[in-house]
Amino acid sequence: MLITIIGCGYVGLTTSVALAYIGHTVHCIDQNEERVASLQQGTIPIHETGVLELLGEVGKSISFGTWNSFNSNSDVVIIAVGTPRKENGDADLTYVEAAAQKLGAIISEEKLPVIVNKSTVPIGSARRVESIVGHCLHERGIKKQPVVASNPEFLREGVALFDTFYPDRIVIGTTDLYAENILREIYAPILEQTFTPPDFLPRPVGFTFPAFITTTPASAELIKYAANTFLAMKISFINEVAGLAERVGADIKEVAHGIGLDKRIGLPYLNAGLGWGGSCFGKDVQALIHYARQYDYDTPLGRATIQINLRQREEVIKKLQSSLKIIRGSTIGLLGLSFKPGTDDLRDAPSITIINRLLELGAHVKVYDPVAMNNCQKTYPELDIHYARNPQELANGLDAMVLVTEWDEFIDLPYGRMGELMRQKIIIDGRNVLDKQLLESEGFNYIGIGR
Ligand SMILES: NC(=O)c1ccc[n+]([C@@H]2O[C@H](COP(=O)([O-])OP(=O)(O)OC[C@H]3O[C@@H](n4cnc5c(N)ncnc54)[C@H](O)[C@@H]3O)[C@@H](O)[C@H]2O)c1
Repeated sequence: MLITIIGCGYVGLTTSVALAYIGHTVHCIDQNEERVASLQQGTIPIHETGVLELLGEVGKSISFGTWNSFNSNSDVVIIAVGTPRKENGDADLTYVEAAAQKLGAIISEEKLPVIVNKSTVPIGSARRVESIVGHCLHERGIKKQPVVASNPEFLREGVALFDTFYPDRIVIGTTDLYAENILREIYAPILEQTFTPPDFLPRPVGFTFPAFITTTPASAELIKYAANTFLAMKISFINEVAGLAERVGADIKEVAHGIGLDKRIGLPYLNAGLGWGGSCFGKDVQALIHYARQYDYDTPLGRATIQINLRQREEVIKKLQSSLKIIRGSTIGLLGLSFKPGTDDLRDAPSITIINRLLELGAHVKVYDPVAMNNCQKTYPELDIHYARNPQELANGLDAMVLVTEWDEFIDLPYGRMGELMRQKIIIDGRNVLDKQLLESEGFNYIGIGR
């Protein structure tokens, strides 16, 4: 199958290399020429575990270019461009609509590809893309109607390839049988698990076949928003309980374990901490609230989910105020910048909110992250912070250290020795991943979330 993917970002790039790996020929288009040039040279513009390695393995099955390189023989075109949040909470469809316009102007009459919307988009967007492309075709004197299917993406950054090869389900929203069949064929090696797993990504023991869900475009679009809102709500729920645990002297880790083992609840996404970040949860929950409002329908769970998440970031400041008393003039170190491990993504990252608050309160801020520091310097050049070369340099002269991102390598750092470099041995474990007893035995004042 010849597949064109529009957008070489976290989703587009991961999907491209995965589809190339399972046997398709993939051409990935981006409007960002710098991005395309770097991909053509074999370097990737993002940090996503395993993508670079797999790109090296797929060789000529994948290619990159700008719109000029569009291949009109494509069987399928997958739109995977960004849908950022507008001020009012709505999803900004500028990029999706621009891609639809381009497609309407460029696809060939002889071979209309099935257009697939993988971007997270408001309900009704498949129809909107269909009408934009259809209108362009009409203006070119082409009488054919394009087919647009919805295929929401559920991958998690940091483990995006794993999620692509071993998904729980693949959702297709279309009423067109040809589109449904062609998508089933594209995903067949994943649905049937017939591909040979990459060495670094073995098939999990006991992995069963993913479900293939076919539904209407509207349901597929709502599935995506509802899934993200539920996951965000689950995190906010445990964070709400964490606040209570702190007050009554319970340990939220034990509480979460105790409730998560109930199969109706489940353990994933029950980790109390600084809350979620990233490009999706915030904007998708806001978008769900926004669409509901258009129908004069209130969504209090969605609103509370966001409110609690913001409160978690402020909790860190409160904990620092309570242990240091005065933040002004103190030196605070952040372990981790990316919104989660395995990525350099800083979109809606708790680290940036916390840094800004600390700077506002007059602290000197030092940071260390194994991969996201370049991105931070590039994206937030205005931040007056010190980038440490390693955790030891970070620890030097600190009044308090805050673990913001639970990178594996932060779990076993030589905290004892790092503590000797600190002015005050205060550590706030914003992800509840450190060994409380060990740190306390090394003289730290350990402060977790909900413990
Ligand atoms: N990042 C995630 O974890 C994730 C997970 C599931 C779904 N999604 C959804 O997938 C979509 C893409 O997200 P992302 O994180 O990959 O975004 P991204 O910003 O990393 O990548 C988008 C890419 O699209 C390119 N682009 C924009 N408009 C274009 C156009 N008209 N023509 C060609 N290229 C264009 C941009 O230059 C950019 O490289 C969003 O709707 C997002 O909500 C993201």
